[in-house]
Formats: sequence, C-alpha cells, structure tokens
Amino acid sequence: MLTDTHCHIFKSDYENIDEVIKRAKENNVTRFINNATNLNSCHEVLELSQKYRTMYGALGIHPEDVESYQESDLKFIEANLVNPKVVAIGEIGLDYYYTKDNKAKQIELFEKQLAMAQEYEIPVIIHNREATGDILNSLKKFKVKGIIHCFNGSLETAQEYLKMGFKLGINGVVTFKNCKLKEVLKQLSINDLVLETDSPYLAPVPLRGEKNEPKNIKIIAEFLADLYNISLSQVEIITNRNIGQIFDI
Ligand code: NI
Repeated sequence: MLTDTHCHIFKSDYENIDEVIKRAKENNVTRFINNATNLNSCHEVLELSQKYRTMYGALGIHPEDVESYQESDLKFIEANLVNPKVVAIGEIGLDYYYTKDNKAKQIELFEKQLAMAQEYEIPVIIHNREATGDILNSLKKFKVKGIIHCFNGSLETAQEYLKMGFKLGINGVVTFKNCKLKEVLKQLSINDLVLETDSPYLAPVPLRGEKNEPKNIKIIAEFLADLYNISLSQVEIITNRNIGQIFDI
C-alpha cells in the first residue's frame, strides 16, 4: 500500500476521478491527501474526501492566491478542521518566483495559517519556491510539524527542517535528469521522506510532460528503492510509518 501525500485531484483537471482512483489502486496506491489552494478547492476537497473513503484532505490558501483570498476563507478553513477527513492545513507557504513585491502579505497569510495549525494541533503541508530563508524564519515562530512539499534543497536546509520535526515530500523531480536532489537524498535516511506526486504537475521520468496521476507514486517508490538499495516493500513500509508520525491516517 502506497500513499500519495500531496496531489491536486479536481474536476477541472480530471474528467473521471473514479478512473484516477481505480488506476492508482491497480498500482497499489491506495491513500491520497488532496491539497486545496483556495476557497473553491477547499470546498471540492471536502466534497471529494466525503465521497472517496481513501481520500483525505488538506485545506489552505496557497501563496499564489494571496491577492484574492478573504479573511472569511480562513474562517471557513478553521470551521472545517473538525472534519475527520481533514488531516492538514495545506498547501500553504511562500512563493517568490513570480514576484517578491507582496512578500509581507504572503508572510502574513502563511503565519496566520501556521498559527491556526498550532492552535488546533494539525500538521501543515508547506510550499516553498525561492523563499527558504523566510520559510524557516516563519516556521521557527510556531510549534508545528508536517511535510515540506516538493523538497529540492540542500543537505543543510533538509537538516533544519528535520530538526523541527518535518518530513520531506519527494516527487517526480527526483527522477529528472541533472537533478541534484539524488545526491542530497543519499546523505539522508529514507526515514525522513514521504512520497508525493503533486498531480497533475511534475510527472516523473519517463512520463515527464504528461498529466501526472497518483498511480505514478509507484515510479517514485521504485526510484527510492534503487537509490537506498532496499526492496519496494521496504519503501512502502517505511514511508507509511513516516506518514504515521505526522498524520492521523
Ligand atoms: Ni501542490
């Protein structure tokens, strides 16, 4: 049994979600954490996690939605944290790739959601793009644990996150040619990692460029089995144990 700890499975990207779940199951991928990015996707995460027994949800406002969110969206998220299928606040974080002009606003939104996670003792799923310093800075102000989604940083940064109780989310990026992440992972333990796809984005080699799906977790798991020279079933057991240290699933 493999778990996709980070995907975006919404009707706008997948015509037939039943089939996506079925194909995942055929590849031994039987649990999913569907990540919202704004109020609309929060609603859909709640709807789909109700419908599919094996789908869990993360509710949150993504930094790219910082200009359009309302205070009431955060109230909505807070009110739905009691839902037993909601297992995290995510996808939240900082993204300085497109613009740094709204840094202060992004940090404010991020820290509001971190405060909520601390108050409700719920894990967080963190998005970071070109903002490592500020991410670490904000995380240090709160007592939270969770996943660093799409980790692709240095060994030193990894160790900072691990010290704070985070696990690192590894996806198709690790399979990309010229990706240096492999070398960093060799110096870390598989006990620090969880698997994710970030579907519909970041399909692994040899499917790079295609629409990604949770079934492709298997490709990441095989890659890590090779990298650490362990069996696929060891990857399954260890990464599920890692997930159990963060999430209540
Ligand atoms: Ni994502």
